Amino acid sequence: MDFFLVITTLTVLVASILFDWWYFLKLRSKRLPPGPSPWPIVGAIPYVVSVRHETSTKKMSQSLQSKYGKILTVWLGKTPMIFIHDPELTYDALVKQGAYFSNRAKNSSMGIISSGWRTVGTSEGPWTVALRKNVMTHMLGPSRLKAFKPLRDRAYGDIVNDLRSVAAAAEDGVAQVNLRSVVVNRVLRFVLVLTFGVELEENLIQEILLNLGERFRLGDESITGGNYCETLFQLEKEFPDFNNSVITSLCAEFLNTAFFTATLAIDHTMALLCDHPVVNEKLYQEIEAVVGRRAVDESDLPNLPYLSAVVRESLRVWKFGLMSLPHATSELRKLGGYDIPTDAVVFFVLESFHLDPTYWSEPSVFKPERFLENDLDVLGTKNFSFLPFSAGRRVCPGSQLGMLQISVVVACLVQTFEWEKVLNVKNPEIGTVLRARPRSV
Ligand code: HEM
Repeated sequence: MDFFLVITTLTVLVASILFDWWYFLKLRSKRLPPGPSPWPIVGAIPYVVSVRHETSTKKMSQSLQSKYGKILTVWLGKTPMIFIHDPELTYDALVKQGAYFSNRAKNSSMGIISSGWRTVGTSEGPWTVALRKNVMTHMLGPSRLKAFKPLRDRAYGDIVNDLRSVAAAAEDGVAQVNLRSVVVNRVLRFVLVLTFGVELEENLIQEILLNLGERFRLGDESITGGNYCETLFQLEKEFPDFNNSVITSLCAEFLNTAFFTATLAIDHTMALLCDHPVVNEKLYQEIEAVVGRRAVDESDLPNLPYLSAVVRESLRVWKFGLMSLPHATSELRKLGGYDIPTDAVVFFVLESFHLDPTYWSEPSVFKPERFLENDLDVLGTKNFSFLPFSAGRRVCPGSQLGMLQISVVVACLVQTFEWEKVLNVKNPEIGTVLRARPRSV
């Protein structure tokens, strides 16, 4: 009995190794973009392990780019991962050949988190179309953003008031804070109302995500005029396998994406302004001239061009590694003269366009004025050298909300406080500790 078990196990093992080998050789016969030489079965994993001292994916990706060029392959086992560092190739893939480069790579951990790849960011085909349409129509499109404005106004005011209270309680009248934690608290509350239509305490979040049930259908329409969770219960009627687990994953995705990136961006921008007092002063002067002493409102944004330039420049020099989510190809395609096989995993390394000297003079210098001269928007409509929200069929659906939140919070903070950096903590998870002195009114 044991003997047969051993023989069967060995046969399966050898067959799968042979299959992997055959598959690997078949792909290697194509003209894939260059990259570190792969080994059969394990791919370029030995190479990746050998350069692990590069400390971050960003550094590793930079050193690979300088060695192999703007389109390169790193084999993860038998899967080719293609990294694209070039705006023109990105335009070709995401726009001209968008239909073939818009699937999502599947890995098992994401499969679990997303209830079987059924969230906006992990799904494909009819699911993606329905989920993106739902989120744009009911939550993130212009008319819904307008309807939710009172909620955002409250969050903006609360952030300023929280900081004022901390300053008032301090002996020297200056608030010393980890800005990210102050902002996160208020933005999260706002996003929770958007998601569930109810005011919730933070310690309930975990419970909600685990026990999503009837009671969350009870969101108060008068607070938001609709909430994301409610829209998902409507979709349940269209898709038979749209169960509570899928709804939980979708709400978790919405919560995460809606508050995390914007909070990081606000923290990052304020740290940059502390490092560049001349830019900070110029921004303050603009706000003072256009808005005066009343609170900045979203309707002021079109009249604050320098603010817009500061926010775009901050996204350009974004330090956390800006990449697309992993795309996957639905069939064999040509890109930049190379073969990109079916089911290849494709990453668009957006930050490398943003720091490319071909497109930007002194790319590592924080200089908002460049955006007054070139006036590039965040969706790459003029060219793809600036693309913080990616592009094409998987473009970030939250770009408008993200830009509103970042712009108004930064404007309110600069208008109300004088800022100074205390300590630039290396670990980005911890954020930047800043001192905020209320400006005299
Ligand atoms: C500074 C703020 C933000 C930045 C820089 C950002 C950037 C991005 C990027 C680069 C992608 C990947 C697109 C691709 O794979 O090609 C993405 C996807 C996504 N973002 Fe954002 N985002 C931001 C804010 C938001 C907000 C506020 C939301 C609101 C809910 C959001 C929701 C999403 C979703 C759902 C996806 C997946 C889209 C899909 O796969 O079809 N993001 N974002």
